[in-house]
Amino acid sequence: MDSTKTFNQYDDQRIEARDGYGTEASHQRCDDLDSLTLESIQNRDGIIFALDLATGYGGQAIRMLQAGANKVVAVDLTDYRKELFNHAQKNKVDLEKITFIQGDLRHLSDLLPTPMVFNFISCQRALHYFPYNDAKNILKNLKKIATSDAQLYISMSGLDGEEGEHYAHDNRPVEERFCEFNEPMRTKQNALHPLCLYSEDDARKLLEESGWHCTNIFTSSFGTVKVVGHNAE
Ligand SMILES: C[S@@+](CC[C@H](N)C(=O)[O-])C[C@H]1O[C@@H](n2cnc3c(N)ncnc32)[C@H](O)[C@@H]1O
Repeated sequence: MDSTKTFNQYDDQRIEARDGYGTEASHQRCDDLDSLTLESIQNRDGIIFALDLATGYGGQAIRMLQAGANKVVAVDLTDYRKELFNHAQKNKVDLEKITFIQGDLRHLSDLLPTPMVFNFISCQRALHYFPYNDAKNILKNLKKIATSDAQLYISMSGLDGEEGEHYAHDNRPVEERFCEFNEPMRTKQNALHPLCLYSEDDARKLLEESGWHCTNIFTSSFGTVKVVGHNAE
């Protein structure tokens, strides 16, 4: 863990995600979108299967279990098994209820060990690492493993906030927008890969074009776009 001093308005420690994929937030903070997810889980009856995509250290995966999910599958490109299970153990969560899968979100259906359907799907601070059309295909494919009343909670780096000021593709349509941050944002955010930043309108379009119904959308004070979707059949 590269934990140094506080680096943003949320008083987060700067914990680098591995391999240049940003910084870890969910491990150290439950944000407003996380809270909405947890409230919905707490208010839902019946068996709950939850999916936390691009889980990182798995903070939200663990909170979903604590909120009442019966099973959580956590997926990330990088192997965060150790961090996730250590954190789960410290929080006295039943380890049997968590599955960690290492793999690329673009191949999710091939990665799941058994056919499963999920009621809650979370993917915080990661879909900007894909070109728009890849992000759209990921969301389309999620519908195949989602219950008919599934809820989706996603967030992406925002075009209209601080990050958009250090981004060369700000004038391109979302389908053609995919480039690395300029310095100093690249280093500050440990974002070493090309990104597609989103406005709220772009995010709404992403959901609608992938077959999800957008029920709530808002932007954090830092500029991250946060979206709630329902499975629209
Ligand atoms: C900024 S971190 C977010 C971690 C956590 N969700 C949070 O909100 O703090 C982005 C995460 O996306 C993961 N990621 C990037 N590309 C991915 C891909 N193609 N498939 C799966 N995970 C990916 C990275 O490994 C990293 O853990």
